[in-house]
Amino acid sequence: MSAQQTMKVFVTRRIPQEGMKILQKAAGMCNLSVWDSDEPVPRAELLNGVAGAHGLLCLLSDKIDTEVLDAAGPNLKVISTLSVGFDHLAIDEIKKRGIRVGYTPDVLTDATAELTVALLLATARRLPEGVEEVKNGGWSTWKPLWLCGYGLSGSTVGVIGLGRIGLAIARRLKPFGVKRLLYTGRQPKPQAQEVEGEYVPLDTLLSESDFVVVSCSLTPETQSLCDQTFFSKMKKTAIFINSSRGAVVNQEDLFKALGSGQIAAAGLDVTTPEPLPTDHPLLTLNNCVVLPHIGSATYTTRGVMAELSANNLLAGLRDSEMPSELKL
Ligand code: NDP
Ligand code: DGY
Repeated sequence: MSAQQTMKVFVTRRIPQEGMKILQKAAGMCNLSVWDSDEPVPRAELLNGVAGAHGLLCLLSDKIDTEVLDAAGPNLKVISTLSVGFDHLAIDEIKKRGIRVGYTPDVLTDATAELTVALLLATARRLPEGVEEVKNGGWSTWKPLWLCGYGLSGSTVGVIGLGRIGLAIARRLKPFGVKRLLYTGRQPKPQAQEVEGEYVPLDTLLSESDFVVVSCSLTPETQSLCDQTFFSKMKKTAIFINSSRGAVVNQEDLFKALGSGQIAAAGLDVTTPEPLPTDHPLLTLNNCVVLPHIGSATYTTRGVMAELSANNLLAGLRDSEMPSELKL
């Protein structure tokens, strides 16, 4: 038996069959152990399952910190996450230990951008409220100002983080007649030309945008970026959309901004925590639309993500080039 045949792999969830098939085909080179459930692996099972593993395939709901890395021990050579976001991974510690990381950029960009546009329109045009009124008898007649919202035509949109997804959102929004597309980030992006994007300071973006869309990664710099000061700089008629990570937002401050009329409405695909408790104050507001983190949730996209994460994992185990390796 070669050294490769003894390699242990732990998969923290039942993943789409496109990925499982690839892993099962490699059964000869690795001993596969799967937390065979649609629910997250309990922490104790994660620590137990990862012990001695050479490869770990995880999800964004698994916190891969020093405790997990210690539990895995020195065999661990590759972590493959079924996500493009990697804020759940203790990157510095992973790097220090020489562990390679695979992730799933690009393949989910279109699906996530599409969902973000859907969320923006649903929030700005008050679709959930309208649907509810039809069901509960609130629809009495056509009224001139009833359920009015805000349109994209002639508007200014500000994108925070014009990365892969941010740019894909901008591309989709422009044909709605958006007049100005502002963006902010760590540096200007040449690809912004395609959407006639104007690189501006954050304060300018906030004070001039009718729609503020957050699509940056969660980092120590972006954690709680959207706080009271942030919301206070937005227009009272502006719509706030977040499809990045919940922790980019201070939710108490958002609740106050929405409740006091500081901003018009918010649409969130991501929250802290996830799931958001059903008694959370944000869920009492008509002007807040909350989705359960479904940005990349199309059958095709999730299948391709599973395929890519399986191939990343196997490439890492084989010491070969990964289809998508995170540069640490
Ligand atoms: P990218 O790395 O392509 O884009 C991230 C962007 O964040 C970059 O443009 C980067 O700017 C920007 N950024 C980083 N730091 C800051 C900062 N301090 N201020 C402003 N912008 C900043 O990643 P993707 O577009 O592929 O994904 C973005 C994020 O979307 C993921 O990290 C994930 O959290 C989230 N996501 C959510 C999904 C969902 O289901 N809701 C689905 C998929 C992803 P710069 O280039 O200048 O550094
Ligand atoms: C990611 O990939 O980071 C998303 O949040 C889920 O697709």
